[in-house]
Amino acid sequence: MTAEEEMTDRIVDLKGVSRVIPALDLTKPERYWALMRELRGLVKIVKVSWVTLLTIGPEGLRKLILDNSDVYFLMDAKLADVNFINGLIAGRLREIGIRGVIMHGFVGSVNVPRVEDLDLILLASMTSGGELYDANFDYVIKIVKDVNAAGVVIGGNKPNLIARARAILGSGYVILSPGIGAQGVKPGCAIAHGADFEIVGRAIYESSNPREAFIRIEDEARRADINRCK
Ligand code: XMP
Repeated sequence: MTAEEEMTDRIVDLKGVSRVIPALDLTKPERYWALMRELRGLVKIVKVSWVTLLTIGPEGLRKLILDNSDVYFLMDAKLADVNFINGLIAGRLREIGIRGVIMHGFVGSVNVPRVEDLDLILLASMTSGGELYDANFDYVIKIVKDVNAAGVVIGGNKPNLIARARAILGSGYVILSPGIGAQGVKPGCAIAHGADFEIVGRAIYESSNPREAFIRIEDEARRADINRCK
């Protein structure tokens, strides 16, 4: 890896560099390596999940990260335990090579750990079944700065909440939005309302040509136009 290619440690530094975060929820181990090969040179961030950990195990995940050392790996752990345990889990994930961890925001600032060299991102609003999240939305957005989180996850089908979070947080924090593609939100529409990154799972990994799908969605996200999103 050359100096130019060297991984940036922080997700905030990837704002504007890349807009699409493929979600790798694959249930066959070999598909992880095949998909990363397809996306080589294009993708800057990928999101892995419990599905990943249960499919390739911690050592498999460590190897996947080592084999793709120019990519920022984000673990969608949706942690919601007490601070001490959240910190242990996040610390173990950091040791494996994970750069960022998603955890629930509703557990409160007291349960958000500090882990060296790791971005913590708080889930603020779900795409579905989110009434209880949304009742606590302002609280979660407020604690982002207090706990030194890197940003938040807000469903791409909640444009008003995305815009609200952006207005409160300013540009120094990231907003990640799932729900793009398979769940019906058009690529670029979360970004048009203020998100930095769109999380895309099935629309990429179930495509017959994931590389082309990534390029097309990244291009649409880059040309985000609010008029197409009404
Ligand atoms: P698809 O295949 O629907 O995958 O593009 C979405 C990915 O995003 C993760 N995720 C969420 N998905 N609402 C969602 O629909 C949410 O609030 C949410 N938060 C995270 C999901 O786990 C999958 O990896």
